[in-house]
Formats: sequence, structure tokens, C-alpha cells
Amino acid sequence: MSTPTFEVYLTPEELVEALRVDARAGLTASPKWLSPKWFYDARGSELFEQITQLPEYYPTRTERALLAECAPAIAELTSPEMLIELGSGSSEKTRLLLDAMKGSLHTYVPQDVSVTALESAACQIDAEFPGLGVVGVISDFTGSLHHLPSGGKRAVAFLGGTLGNLIPVERGEFLSGVSAVLDSGESLILGVGLVTDPAVLVPAYDDSAGVTAQFNLNVLSVLNKQLGADFPIEAFRHVALWDSENQWIEMRLEASRDLSVRIEDLDLEITFAKGEQLRTEISAKFTVDSISAELEAAGFAVQKVWTDDDQRFALLCADRV
Ligand code: SAH
Ligand code: AVI
Repeated sequence: MSTPTFEVYLTPEELVEALRVDARAGLTASPKWLSPKWFYDARGSELFEQITQLPEYYPTRTERALLAECAPAIAELTSPEMLIELGSGSSEKTRLLLDAMKGSLHTYVPQDVSVTALESAACQIDAEFPGLGVVGVISDFTGSLHHLPSGGKRAVAFLGGTLGNLIPVERGEFLSGVSAVLDSGESLILGVGLVTDPAVLVPAYDDSAGVTAQFNLNVLSVLNKQLGADFPIEAFRHVALWDSENQWIEMRLEASRDLSVRIEDLDLEITFAKGEQLRTEISAKFTVDSISAELEAAGFAVQKVWTDDDQRFALLCADRV
């Protein structure tokens, strides 16, 4: 029996050091902010999987339905020998691509910052797809991507709308970074959320069961555990709003009273005034034209775009020029 192999480009120590740097920068800024990558400890990855099952959270099921329909066409357009998936999480929807790509694919490379999610997904895929090599990569996709493996024609998948979690400057750097590691003729398979009715968008990020609220608040537990902070979690409230100017959902945590927090490992004391908000995530939505233009600016030629009937989600297949 084969087992997946793992390549580690981000050790637990490096991850905590990156969290220290980010937390100091974001929590001493005005307004305060944190990167969404800090949601995904083991508990955060589990909560994200619960979010994907919520009735209000349409992106996952919409993308899955699109993949079920167009995976054979994607396989034909891209014919990869190696599929690299960035921010792969549970790799749940990816199985549709792996099935469709059976004719050409020899290796699947899931990549994630969340060790627990990556290990479990890589082991399950390895068991389900005998004959397919599985190489898990633990790294940060906002850094250099030059460590990504090569060997045969590659396609990079970036699903779920995770591109929208990067702030615009990071997004441009990320797309140029993917383009820089691919050879001409290799492909990017991208899933993004589309701008749609705020009456649909906002509940997707503020569900009635409160799972997204738990996911958002979990980042404070991460800071408490990893940096010896003492955030009183019950004193914060989950906020999700649609920013129509920037065309993104913004998740925030709002202090319900004046409070101060000690972050032991940073030797730092920060204060929140009652009503003050900490931004924890943006989730940008696109139009087919806007995302196509960003891909083209990064050196890709869009080959084909699929959208659902309600125009809420798009899958794009683009070739590195
Ligand atoms: N692609 C999956 C999971 C989306 S959740 C899906 O479509 O359902 C976002 C995933 O990206 C999580 O697994 C998280 O751990 C990972 N992630 C977030 N920021 C990251 C970063 N900077 N580098 C690597 N992985 C990251
Ligand atoms: C991973 N990412 C695409 C999700 C999103 O929809 O932006 C994360 C998420 N945040 C709240 N709910 C889900």
C-alpha cells in the first residue's frame, strides 16, 4: 500500500512566528485587522467544513454542481499529468476533477497551511485513488510558490472562492506568482464567487445557526492559545457586511464593551473601545469580466468560463501564455 508523502515549507515554529508578526502589525493598526489564514487551526478547518453544509452558504454546493457538470471538459482542455491544488482544505470537490483527469494524471499535490486538514485529505485521496501519487505540501500560498513540484504538464486548481480572501494587492501578487511558476501552456483552474444580491450574500456569511460566528470568533482562541493572549471571547460579536464599493463581504469582530487584552508572547497590551471592530476577512466577489481582466493582466489567457444559472459562482479555465 502506498502512502502520501509530505513536503514542509512552513514549520510549526515558522507559522507561529508569522502569526506573531501579523498579530503585532494588525492589532496595533487603526482600524485593527487580521489575515484570514489564522482561522484555520484544526478547529477552524472543522468549522469551515460545517459552513460548507449550511443552507445559506451556497458557494460550495454551487461550485460542486458546476464541477460535476464541467470536470470532463476541464480535463480535456487541460490534460494535466500533475494537479496542484492551492488551499486544498478537505479536497472534497477535487475528487470530481481527479476522476475526470484519470486518463492523464499521475500526481495530485494538495497544498495548505492547515496541517490537520491537509494530512487527512491527502491520506483519504491516496486510499481512494490507487495508482495516483499524492504529495502534500505544507506552505503559505501568499509567499513564493517556487517550491511547488514540477514533473509533467501541470494544472493549478484554486477553488472555493479563496482568491477573494486576499486583499487586492495580495491577489495581484498571488496571480502573478502562480503565472511565474507555470510554464507556457500549463493551466489554472479557478473558482470564484460572483457579485450577487446582498440578500443572498450576507446570510451566507451570517447564518442562522451561528456557525460562521463560531468560525470568526475561533481566531481569538487561536491568538489565546498560540500567543498567550487573554481575549475575552464572549465580549466579541460576529459582524458580516456587504461593502458595495469594494464588492466584498467583510467579516469583523466587534467589542461589546471597553476592554483591554494582554498578548503575553508579544509583551503587548491592546485596548478595544465599546463598538470597535477588528476586520478578520474580506471575501471579494467578481464579475466574469473583472476576473478575466485580472487573469489576463497576470499572464493568463482565459479558455473557458462556466457559471451557474443564478450567476453566483464561476469556474474559469485559463492557460499560462
Ligand atoms: N479549497 C477548499 C477549502 C477552502 S477553505 C474548498 O474549496 O472548499 C480555504 C483553505 O485555504 C483552508 O484549508 C485554509 O487552511 C487554506 N488557506 C488559507 N490561507 C492560506 C494560505 N495563506 N496559504 C495556504 N493555505 C491557506
Ligand atoms: C475559504 N473562503 C473562500 C471562504 C469564503 O467564503 O470567503 C471562507 C469563509 N468565511 C466565512 N465563511 C466562509
